[in-house]
Amino acid sequence: MANNLFDFGMIGLGVMGRNLLLNMADHGFRAIGFDKDVQKGAALESSATPNTVVKGVSTLAEMIKLLEPPRKLMMLVPAGKPVDDVINDLLPLLENGDIVIDGGNSHYTDTLRRLNFLKDKGIHFMGVGISGGEQGARTGPSIMPGGDPAAYEQVKPILEAVAAKVNGSPCVAHLGKLAAGHYVKMVHNGIEYAIMQLISETYDLLHRGLGLNNDELHKVYKNWNEDELQSFLIEITADIFLQQDDKTDNRLVDMILDKAGSKGTGKWTSQDAMDLPVSVPVIDMAVAMRDLSTYKEERIQAAALYKTAKTHIDVPQEVFIQQLEDALYFATIICYAQGLAMLQKASSELNMDIPLPEVVRVWRGGCIIRSSLLETFYTAFKTNPTLPNLLLDNNIAQLLHAKRQHMRNIIMHAAQTGYAISGLMASLGYFDAYRSEHLPTNLIQAQRDYFGAHTYQRVDMPGTFHTEWKSN
Ligand code: 6PG
Repeated sequence: MANNLFDFGMIGLGVMGRNLLLNMADHGFRAIGFDKDVQKGAALESSATPNTVVKGVSTLAEMIKLLEPPRKLMMLVPAGKPVDDVINDLLPLLENGDIVIDGGNSHYTDTLRRLNFLKDKGIHFMGVGISGGEQGARTGPSIMPGGDPAAYEQVKPILEAVAAKVNGSPCVAHLGKLAAGHYVKMVHNGIEYAIMQLISETYDLLHRGLGLNNDELHKVYKNWNEDELQSFLIEITADIFLQQDDKTDNRLVDMILDKAGSKGTGKWTSQDAMDLPVSVPVIDMAVAMRDLSTYKEERIQAAALYKTAKTHIDVPQEVFIQQLEDALYFATIICYAQGLAMLQKASSELNMDIPLPEVVRVWRGGCIIRSSLLETFYTAFKTNPTLPNLLLDNNIAQLLHAKRQHMRNIIMHAAQTGYAISGLMASLGYFDAYRSEHLPTNLIQAQRDYFGAHTYQRVDMPGTFHTEWKSN
């Protein structure tokens, strides 16, 4: 470029910001980054690929001056107040038509608020979900942009260049209006929580139930990753069992305390699902189990009170492992079905116009929940973009039919031996409820009307009814 101005600016040069910016530079974009910490600017420049244009600066004003108008910039800072702080610092420096992207995991309602605030000032604000962790940012993440389509067109070449590619197609697309990008990323994370919960349950059954050691566990997950369950999360699970602890002679996984952390995106998914409302019980359960895991001291007391006599699963290893693979496959489909049904509902309820086929296409590569299953889901949504629930697709129905008996067997064995498989159980529970023409909810309606005159509808005529129930 003749004027030597930069194509893209990054605010926040933590490892994600730095890696994404270096990725842009590798694709020929002139990249500039700002961080208050001068060291981070220096680290950015020293890790750049030779012959790429990368500059680190220590003031926002300098970065803004060096960006080609209309400026394209992204912030990768912690969600919440830091995002508002950056916006306030930027405001006096920006000009009409500049594009500001929040690439972090912000709550979509914050994104909506910021979007409207900046719109009044002539600035395009876009909430963009980015998945794939540090490595993904450097080599190709999955990118979930939402907001003004015209602003997206301006950043599209950069985002397409840096995104992961599947069959040559970039894992990025405009995923809807308003705060759709952050909404889609939130649900992505809800699904991530749910699948991680399911995998941890299979680990418990294999490890404590069957008695497999870490080398054997590695083999099981490695085999699963080469089969129908092929996915990023299964792949890293296989790796984890081989990692040696550098402080003891044990494997690291055995030295990690069983209390799960979280930054809130799973909880947001559950909260927002209930607001819509739409049912995502595997995600709810995954959040609940992370929370329960933190009550370690109480769990220790309860474990002493409620000892189980039999903890070994008496099923031939090979048979059990095969059944468990099928159960995990079944339950994983249910997780995606719940998350995608939520997006479909939110798309219309929150006026975001989220294109489901594109969401699924974008999730095929680069993101934490990438999996070979996404290809099947892509076919389903391409055939019917308004499909309300994956479970209504004929191909998916066949897949679930083929696995459901093994799913039931696993739940039976686990229930008999007392393993906590709440995620697997919630998957089957949801499946059985969703496929029920008749639910016992008529009784709930009767109870509500009995004690609270909440009224009910009848099966044989339209209208709303109340009865003076007799106590006997
Ligand atoms: C991703 C991840 C990423 C982050 C999670 C972790 O898609 O790259 O989802 O965004 O690792 O938010 O979330 P928890 O700390 O809540 O598990």
